Amino acid sequence: MTAALTREEVAFVSDWLRRRAAVVIDQDHSYVIETRLATLARTIGLESPSEIVVALRSQCPGDLDVHVIDTMTTHETLFFRDIHPFESLATDVLPALVAARPHGRPLRVWSGACSTGQEPYSIAMTVRERFPHLGPADVRIVGTDIARSVIERARAGVYKLNEVQRGLSAERLARHFEQVGREFHIARAVKDLVEVQELNLLERWPALDAFDVVFLRNVLVYFDEPTRSRILHRVRDVMREGGTLFLGTAEILKADVPGLERVTCGKTQVLVKRGC
Ligand SMILES: C[S@@+](CC[C@H](N)C(=O)[O-])C[C@H]1O[C@@H](n2cnc3c(N)ncnc32)[C@H](O)[C@@H]1O
Repeated sequence: MTAALTREEVAFVSDWLRRRAAVVIDQDHSYVIETRLATLARTIGLESPSEIVVALRSQCPGDLDVHVIDTMTTHETLFFRDIHPFESLATDVLPALVAARPHGRPLRVWSGACSTGQEPYSIAMTVRERFPHLGPADVRIVGTDIARSVIERARAGVYKLNEVQRGLSAERLARHFEQVGREFHIARAVKDLVEVQELNLLERWPALDAFDVVFLRNVLVYFDEPTRSRILHRVRDVMREGGTLFLGTAEILKADVPGLERVTCGKTQVLVKRGC
């Protein structure tokens, strides 16, 4: 295989990623583009990573653009990541929502960059534990992501031992999963609360009903400041009045959007939609 990309090719891919997925890879980290595209080229049987660049430049890259986005985005996640947001959800946010819910209206939760599904399923487990009488007619959790490979995994809700060992207590594992051979399948009662869709935060969003709770965690960190701000304005607009937005631990300080008020909720900071 011909190894390296030219500087111009790296610059093209960097710009393409910024436009298509808002993924920002600065010059100091351009080796990330080179190494990941070299691996992708090998995996899909191309002679060199330059062939990927040629395909991206053409107007019809086939499925290659999907593969490139998959390869270049970071999908790191785990169950109950950072724990405090899920504790606040269980002790403050959900009880208030359930108490105030007009009869018959389902609560709607969005996990806006759900990766392989650990986040929406952690939300669903929290709902099942705190309010076992609530089912799919009462609570809808929508997980979305840009990357097709993780969407398929999130939809399947099937995890390996090393994945369920990250973030789950033995009790939760026994309660919410069924072991099938060496795999762990999310229990039906949890899975039924969750649906998973493809959605690029940068592009047009499908018609979304207003959300009571949004988790948009550990994704804004990859975007530049104007993109973050644009996305947060759009998220605000699909939230219900009084709705709660959870960001990643490192992301909360950057948020400054009219109509989203910072509130301390248990051991976590959230943004609450007010007066829009
Ligand atoms: C680091 S994971 C975070 C997963 C989860 N929210 C968490 O906190 O554990 C970031 C996810 O954002 C997704 N992502 C990156 N760019 C995106 C975009 N433009 N639109 C939607 N999802 C995107 C990636 O595919 C990846 O699965």
